[in-house]
Amino acid sequence: MKAEQGIVLVDRDDDGVDKAFRSDVLDGLSQPEKAVPARWLYDDAGSQLFEDITGVEEYYPTRAETEILETRGAEFAELIGPDRAVVEFGSGSSVKTPLLLKAIQPGAYVPLDIAGDFLREAAADLAKKFPDLDVYPVEADFTKQVELPREVLDMKKLGFFPGSTIGNMVARTAVDLLRSMRATLGGEESELPYLLIGMDLVKDREVLEAAYDDASGVTAEFNLNLARRINRELAGTIPVDALEHSAVWNDDFARVEMHLRATRDIAFEVSGHRFELAEGETIHTENSHKFTRRSTNTLLLAGGWTPVKRWLDSEKRFSLVLARATELRNAP
Ligand code: AVI
Repeated sequence: MKAEQGIVLVDRDDDGVDKAFRSDVLDGLSQPEKAVPARWLYDDAGSQLFEDITGVEEYYPTRAETEILETRGAEFAELIGPDRAVVEFGSGSSVKTPLLLKAIQPGAYVPLDIAGDFLREAAADLAKKFPDLDVYPVEADFTKQVELPREVLDMKKLGFFPGSTIGNMVARTAVDLLRSMRATLGGEESELPYLLIGMDLVKDREVLEAAYDDASGVTAEFNLNLARRINRELAGTIPVDALEHSAVWNDDFARVEMHLRATRDIAFEVSGHRFELAEGETIHTENSHKFTRRSTNTLLLAGGWTPVKRWLDSEKRFSLVLARATELRNAP
């Protein structure tokens, strides 16, 4: 494995607190409708809890997407072809990434992630499984354009963004990300890059709400961990026992929303600032957008990608979509 030199991207204050975390929480709790960006759900405890979520009965997306990757390998290989540098946006799961790499005979694998430790672990794991594959992990914020290692610059590219993580962004941010991916992957005319992206589908409210509020309470813990993290890292005094997890389908915006709801009036401090939540008031902690065939196509086109092929799992719950960078040409 050849590793790129990592760079430190987290800006910390004198107490070792991530400045962006503090300002996002203070700003978010000061709004009339309180909200904290979902990225802060993923400290070490939160990342572990998310791993646990992927194994609970009600949370179907991971199993459904894995099924597609397991069964459609020959079709990916035929459409995508060999020798591409696979650029994965995020560290790569130990299950999904090998399935893709096995199917398409890539020329190199480039995982991009802001969390250096996860990135190096995931890259080392993969390099062990694929000893003949060149792996070039890059520690970077992939929401911006990333400079790829020079070793892969001349290769054709395939971006890989599984998990329906795109659904955790509102449309404007999702489009920005798709455009950044396009810029990162480069390639002109005959070399236009492909993108293989997981997009979860709109379905019955009951199925969706259960997937985000499992009976064993793992998703509730994942959500409540954000309040605990605020208490741990930002000298918070949030009475976590007065918060409950809520997951509600918002049909207007086609998304499941996670909130932390106060079960009684509470007041607390975060980094010396005082906040109040009235009984029933919530902190909005995550959106998970779900897509239809049409909304998938609209979003991809808005981000500079032309859909090529779409695969569903056997129960039609989840889609994996292959898109190609849109050629710039005159169109009506
Ligand atoms: C990471 N992401 C795609 C998950 C989702 O389904 O939106 C995060 C998650 N939140 C609650 N459960 C899973």
